[in-house]
Amino acid sequence: MTNKVAIVTGANKGLGLAIVKGLCEKYDGTVYLTSRDTKRGRDACEELKKIGLHPKYYQLDVTDNDSVRKFCTFIKEEHKQIDIVINNAAILFLKDAEEPRLYQAEQTILVNFTALVNFCEAILPMIKVGGKIVNISSSSAHLSRIPSEKLRNIISSPDLTLEALKELISGYVEAVRENKDIEEGWGDSPYVVSKVGVNAYTFHLHRRLANRGIVVNCVHPGYVMSDMTRGGGNVSPEQGAMQPLLLALESQTGGRYVWHDGTEVPWDGPDPRGYIDGRQ
Ligand SMILES: NC(=O)c1ccc[n+]([C@@H]2O[C@H](COP(=O)([O-])OP(=O)(O)OC[C@H]3O[C@@H](n4cnc5c(N)ncnc54)[C@H](OP(=O)(O)O)[C@@H]3O)[C@@H](O)[C@H]2O)c1
Repeated sequence: MTNKVAIVTGANKGLGLAIVKGLCEKYDGTVYLTSRDTKRGRDACEELKKIGLHPKYYQLDVTDNDSVRKFCTFIKEEHKQIDIVINNAAILFLKDAEEPRLYQAEQTILVNFTALVNFCEAILPMIKVGGKIVNISSSSAHLSRIPSEKLRNIISSPDLTLEALKELISGYVEAVRENKDIEEGWGDSPYVVSKVGVNAYTFHLHRRLANRGIVVNCVHPGYVMSDMTRGGGNVSPEQGAMQPLLLALESQTGGRYVWHDGTEVPWDGPDPRGYIDGRQ
């Protein structure tokens, strides 16, 4: 065992668990399976132990500042530095969800965007030169999913600072509160806005960290059979984990948005669900 360390968020099930499994199989370092719920996370570790794999466990709720602080302090004391961070934790309210629109927007932005950014910023000082950050994105993160050209131009501007990005995404929640999100051109999906935010953050981080030798990418894993899709996807979590694992283990270049088949797609180009997945 070397002193190499990989961390996966939201890893007690679904894609995150499959990524931990793949890392345990392919990576000669310590792999942390983290989860917001301790029992669910420890149970998942036990399942992997039954097949001869040995992840370590730590509780991490990415929306809880104390939990993030505790985890980062532990990692600093235990390992000092880390090699791989995979930001996987996320939520999705499906079309039939009964929660109020504003609640859905607040929670989705909180977990998928704000908490991902906050956790990543907190762990960043410990990432080694040559380290890798993989943000689990989505087809929903494609820029074409935001109807307003003006918003698309702002979000994809290479001059966008992190503060401006955070303000913009908070502005979306305010627009939902005032019932102006459609009128302002955000579209009707908080999940889309949250994942577009994740892509914008990925490209921002790439610009910021490239000269520190840290490789930052984002990936659409495909339509994965998991609780998020109520099992309705068309690829297994193991298949969905393939590209995230390649990016974590082998990628030497950052600032890329990679599709589930390995194609690097232009964020501001045509929607790849058409030309890759054959959807009309
Ligand atoms: N499934 C798809 O078709 C698909 C497509 C494109 C992208 N993705 C992305 O792939 C990633 C994994 O999704 P999945 O399909 O595996 O979904 P999933 O089975 O619902 O798993 C989501 C994971 O995130 C965790 N999580 C939620 N909130 C958290 C928090 N505050 N702190 C820490 N962990 C938290 C969940 O923990 P609990 O068990 O405690 O809820 C769970 O472990 C997500 O980023 C998703 O957006 C999925």
